[in-house]
Amino acid sequence: MRRRDPGRPVVARRVHGRDSRRRPAGRVAARRRVARRRLRAARDDDPPRRRRAVRERPAGQLRVESEAVRRCSSRHAPPPDHARSHVARSVVAVLFGGRSCEHEVSILTAHEALSVLRRMPDYDPLPVYVTKDGRWLTGPALDDLDKFADPAAIERECRPVTLQPGSPGALVVETGGLFGKRDSVRIDVALPLIHGPNGEDGTLQGTLEMLGIPYAGSGVLGSALCMDKAAMKRAFTAAGLPQVPYTVVTRAAWDSGPDGELARASALGEKLFVKPVRGGSSIGVTFVETGDALAPAIDLALEFDCEAVVEAAVADVAEVNCAVLRDGDTVLTSTLEAVAASGGFLTFDQKYLQWSKGAPSDEVQGHVIPAPLPPEKAERISALARAAFEACSCDGVARVDFLLSGDEVFVNEINTVPGSLSFYLWEPSGVTFDDLLGRMLRTAVLRAERRSGLTYSLDRNLLEAIQERKGAKGPKRP
Ligand SMILES: Nc1ncnc2c1ncn2[C@@H]1O[C@H](COP(=O)(O)OP(=O)(O)O)[C@@H](O)[C@H]1O
Ligand SMILES: [Mg+2]
Repeated sequence: MRRRDPGRPVVARRVHGRDSRRRPAGRVAARRRVARRRLRAARDDDPPRRRRAVRERPAGQLRVESEAVRRCSSRHAPPPDHARSHVARSVVAVLFGGRSCEHEVSILTAHEALSVLRRMPDYDPLPVYVTKDGRWLTGPALDDLDKFADPAAIERECRPVTLQPGSPGALVVETGGLFGKRDSVRIDVALPLIHGPNGEDGTLQGTLEMLGIPYAGSGVLGSALCMDKAAMKRAFTAAGLPQVPYTVVTRAAWDSGPDGELARASALGEKLFVKPVRGGSSIGVTFVETGDALAPAIDLALEFDCEAVVEAAVADVAEVNCAVLRDGDTVLTSTLEAVAASGGFLTFDQKYLQWSKGAPSDEVQGHVIPAPLPPEKAERISALARAAFEACSCDGVARVDFLLSGDEVFVNEINTVPGSLSFYLWEPSGVTFDDLLGRMLRTAVLRAERRSGLTYSLDRNLLEAIQERKGAKGPKRP
């Protein structure tokens, strides 16, 4: 079993689960206290962070650093002159929470990333929390994990963030004060850390595109493809990637008569997996071992989405994951991990709740890094991971999950916002979490710069040409 390295930074902890990527929604109080202590320790270990304050502001636009945003209530005095740094750092909006079943898991992923970003000299993180009903908030309260247990306190203590489209994009923060003052915070780059629908599915990525804010991770297409298991499977088929036989059941077809759907699904095999097409963390997933369990499993999956995917279950399955990173123009693959499930498959509880019982996570979760595989098999899986990443137009970091049985290898799915951004899979090859975030953010900016050089406007003014043509024809006669 993999043991925790005592030299590993205490704050840079992986979120176990989320198909080993997410922690549980309802975490025990003790776990929260430990996380909070770690966050505090990280800050205390980082005195320069407290000294960072006002930096050069871009001409013509007020640039409010996140540290400044945290302090912009009149209760906080401005930092002393000697504490001001004149080196511009990039403001990174860290977006987390979201309207998703994986809301709490996202909070934990974001706290890990924020604690790492705060000690990086080039970046100034601005936490932006998306509430369960979709409101965007920022403020110092977001640093305190305990606060998230009381949504009303978060709403009270944070300030609303509104969006200001344009290039460069900005977020507008209500900074309080006598006249409801508003500050425009220019965002240099965003780090989307929302798991699941309404965040990992291309919607947030599309919003950031419209805002003109460069962002790390997969773009609109890659995010949307990988959140939709049916579309992802079609992309895998087109790329010739090995996957288990499957079929899709839509709500409309199911409601208009389930017999045909049940017959088609049963033809895939005796034991099946039924999943919502758009989901994660095994929510709504059922391992169907007998025929009479199939219909209830489809009903359950259709509670979470309007489409369900039914797959043949892989017998004696072993699960192996590989992270892939687009670093500039290079695509890298990580060390492989083996994840052992007990009792048929990795359920939500196995991914998260066992962790909160206090047992050493690596043993509870059965993560083995590197995965004990013969080198040729490991190489084959890495090559398939890279091919899957490219087939779905992924970017930044993504984790590709495999199902193995004997000599057979099947690509199961891609997670475009994996828990802890899979940093623990990069560490064995010497890429720290800081390094991983730096590479992702630099690649995001490079992608945006390349796009900004594209032509989005034609010289010909179509409306003028239409007017001219009308004029040449002369006025209409009655
Ligand atoms: N076809 C399959 N055969 C065997 N096990 C499977 C199969 N599909 C899924 N599983 C198990 O179910 C878990 C959740 O399925 P997955 O496709 O990863 O959905 P999610 O997006 O919810 O994580 C997997 O981690 C694995 O343990
Ligand atoms: Mg999964």
